[in-house]
Amino acid sequence: MSQALLPSRPPSNTRALAAAVSAAREAGALMKTHLRRAKQVNESHQHDIKLELDVRCQKLITRALATVFPGIPVLGEEGIDAASEKSAARWVVDPIDGTVNFAYGIPHAAVSIALQVRTEDGFRNEVGVVFDPFMDDLWTAIRGKPARLNGRITRVSTRARLDESIVSLGFAKSQDSLKAAQSDFLELTHRVRKIRIMGSAALALTYVACGRFDAYVEAGVRLWDIAAGGLIVECAGGSFVTQALSGEHRYALIASNGLIHDQIPHARTSVTRSKPSGPKGGSKGRTSSKSRTRS
Ligand code: IPD
Repeated sequence: MSQALLPSRPPSNTRALAAAVSAAREAGALMKTHLRRAKQVNESHQHDIKLELDVRCQKLITRALATVFPGIPVLGEEGIDAASEKSAARWVVDPIDGTVNFAYGIPHAAVSIALQVRTEDGFRNEVGVVFDPFMDDLWTAIRGKPARLNGRITRVSTRARLDESIVSLGFAKSQDSLKAAQSDFLELTHRVRKIRIMGSAALALTYVACGRFDAYVEAGVRLWDIAAGGLIVECAGGSFVTQALSGEHRYALIASNGLIHDQIPHARTSVTRSKPSGPKGGSKGRTSSKSRTRS
């Protein structure tokens, strides 16, 4: 796409939200239809699977978004439009977050779509949509407004003690992040009420946003796994703290209700306690050590 075609102004957040919701529902319907069917595997690695359906869902989402907003590029798990690094706005899409669950017929996976706009020093999440087609749960957020679950305002939990909290851990794909997750597990397991390892970063974040989980920790996720969910956590009154890692669009993160953030051991995930995290100015999503967008 040529630079001249890129929109000079980002779209209105309300219209962007409506477009993202509609695209997420369409992709979610496809996921639901195929949950128990045989699926074509495009790539298989020790800790990851790529399905033909991932690609199909991203294409469907890209087409649906482009119908409403032609010219806004997509940065997605299944393909990155090169224009997304330079445009005024971009969609960040994980067509199926929790692909391994989905591939094995486990109904815990979601569609994740965020709209990011360019700022002076990077990109900021403006709109976030996460749709779980199996529970028919739709989380939405627009920066500066309350997060919603199925249309109703939703908020993070009020639990202030780690020993009463449910903390979700993500076990990612790389050796270094798997080792870090093992350390997190050993360190946290005796200090929390329960650890949960569910297999979808987007859903772990939205579960924090609506108080089902109190925190979610992962040592190596990608931007498309967390952009929408991170904004939803912030708009639900929680804290979403990331630290950029080496590798394209890779982060360590701690998301929580904000109240237990300082009780979570940070060393292993390389998310530090006090210094602002992520690329300067929160380039890949808004990332600060205690960013709590109260709604
Ligand atoms: C993965 C899931 C998983 C998380 C990994 C992600 P994918 O996303 O969110 O929970 O632990 O880090 O890569 O590959 O299923 O879209």
